[in-house]
Amino acid sequence: MYTQAMDTAPQEARKAVRSAEEAELEARFEARIDDGAFIEAKDWMPEHYRKTLVRQISQHAHSEIVGMLPEGNWVTRAPTLKRKAILLAKIQDEGGHGLYLYAAAETLGTSRDQLLDALHSGKAKYSSIFNYPTLTWADVGVIGWLVDGAAIMNQIPLCRCSYAPYARAMIRVCKEESFHQRQGFDALNVMMREGTEAQRAMVQDAVNRWWWPSLMMFGPHDSDSPNSAQSMRWGIKRISNDDLRQKFVDATVEQAKVLGVSLPDPLLQWNEARGHYDFGPIDWAEFWRVVGGEGACNRERLQARVDAWEEGAWVREAALAHARKQQTQAEAA
Ligand SMILES: [Fe+2]
Ligand SMILES: [Fe+2]
Repeated sequence: MYTQAMDTAPQEARKAVRSAEEAELEARFEARIDDGAFIEAKDWMPEHYRKTLVRQISQHAHSEIVGMLPEGNWVTRAPTLKRKAILLAKIQDEGGHGLYLYAAAETLGTSRDQLLDALHSGKAKYSSIFNYPTLTWADVGVIGWLVDGAAIMNQIPLCRCSYAPYARAMIRVCKEESFHQRQGFDALNVMMREGTEAQRAMVQDAVNRWWWPSLMMFGPHDSDSPNSAQSMRWGIKRISNDDLRQKFVDATVEQAKVLGVSLPDPLLQWNEARGHYDFGPIDWAEFWRVVGGEGACNRERLQARVDAWEEGAWVREAALAHARKQQTQAEAA
């Protein structure tokens, strides 16, 4: 799912002294970026570019697999066989997204074990949206509609990211995210059109709880996102946090009208002069509180990942033993 367009790590100090050779390589790299060229894993790249990408791609990968948890909570309680099959397929897609992204991060020289260790020890971040609870079945639909919808806005520009293995992974991810968004909208639409009064109220309640956290998925305002400018220069990021958030609001307000739900923002209104919807202020104190570990489900989500890792140890050991055996047999043949 889901970069949060958030870069909480401090800007690393650039080396004051560089060798002439390194300066030459960096100049060539910058020129390629300026030409719009893609960078491959085997190409020379500045250390800061590599670290920025490892941080972003791994944060993204972690978000995909943590994102499986809130929805996984509803697999056994999906209202129909059809909805259960769709939900299972969606959750499985998210696991696949994690896989492509861990593989993309590994091309930069950091092992999957290192990446997962950073997640399990709490050092690495994932998108804070998954630290909110899924209280009713309508939450599953709203996650598809709003959370996957916000993820698509964030991720489409990443298909043109300057680092080619990440860009290639994102092309497939985006196709699948589009199905996720539509299935969420469809589930809500059925409840709004064919459901009972109580079901419609359940949808509205879920929208009220998820709207603001969805807007936070685009990360802090551009003015509070000091590392964004470097990522834009390097072609890792193509559109700013605030511009993406505005695109999301503009698209979603129209979809909310079709659904027949209201969005919980009294200041939301069309601004003719700007050609965009204006919207109210985001509660950044809540955003930073949840990023800092104090959301409703932070501990539960991390514990679920740690438990899955520990309980899966025998599977990894068996797979490695099998691979070794195959290799020994192949060498003996
Ligand atoms: Fe995903
Ligand atoms: Fe998704």
